[in-house]
Amino acid sequence: MSGFSADWLALREPADARARAPELTKRLAAFCAGKQKLRILDLGSGTGSNLRFLAPRLKVAQSWTLVDHDEALLERAAANEVPAGVEIACRQLDLAKDLAGLDLSGIDLVTGSALMDLVSADWFDRLAAACRAAGCAVFFVLTYDGVMEFRPTERLDGLVRELFNRHQGEDKGFGPALGPEAPKHMARALIAKGFRVETAPSDWVIEAGERKLQLALLEGFLAAAEEIGPARAEELRDWAARRRRLATRADARLRVGHEDLFAFPSEG
Ligand SMILES: C[S@@+](CC[C@H](N)C(=O)[O-])C[C@H]1O[C@@H](n2cnc3c(N)ncnc32)[C@H](O)[C@@H]1O
Repeated sequence: MSGFSADWLALREPADARARAPELTKRLAAFCAGKQKLRILDLGSGTGSNLRFLAPRLKVAQSWTLVDHDEALLERAAANEVPAGVEIACRQLDLAKDLAGLDLSGIDLVTGSALMDLVSADWFDRLAAACRAAGCAVFFVLTYDGVMEFRPTERLDGLVRELFNRHQGEDKGFGPALGPEAPKHMARALIAKGFRVETAPSDWVIEAGERKLQLALLEGFLAAAEEIGPARAEELRDWAARRRRLATRADARLRVGHEDLFAFPSEG
């Protein structure tokens, strides 16, 4: 079990789709145009949200392999309808334990959405080296960058953000997680390995109409903050109670910072 439920992934999928940087999706589509059949690996695929977004926008024949360690999520992914011209296969693999088990031969593109803030610097560097050796392009989207901004603001927002960001840096199975450092680390590591890197913001902006998502995020922030700062649990619960009330306002808004990244091997 990964701790990511299909319900949670479904709840976030519309916000993810809206947040993605359109210019980078277009860059990727232009890079892929003209290929006979694009072979794509989607790491930490969950139920296939990344495929659902990208496949119709890449105007070429595609063969996707969805990789996840959670069999139940992969079963959901396999049960979904697939767009015309797209083949999919699912592979259960614990990427933290067996990165070397990924076969990159013949792969054009390695992608992943909402995964790279969970991995460690060392794991990412090994992935980047493997992608460089195989000559793959990479497209990693919706990587958390540490920004959490509520409107209206509240006295303890800064404390919650700080505790949550520390929690994001804890081990999520891959060693100490990159957490909010992930976007910067990925760009640096890929450039050092000889990739050309392009990035763009892909923040979630969640308005009052998406109260269910706002509230689910709020509970996640609270649980993480309490774990890191148990001595402040009472204050944190009071903060969450005030925030739940504020979430009923028509101007309630939450921004969660993310970044999208596209990189391809530079010549020579
Ligand atoms: C935040 S979810 C994102 C899922 C999907 N990419 C999306 O955007 O909806 C992270 C995904 O990574 C998977 N994951 C976490 N640790 C993993 C590991 N060690 N090996 C393989 N997959 C893993 C989880 O099962 C989950 O599906």
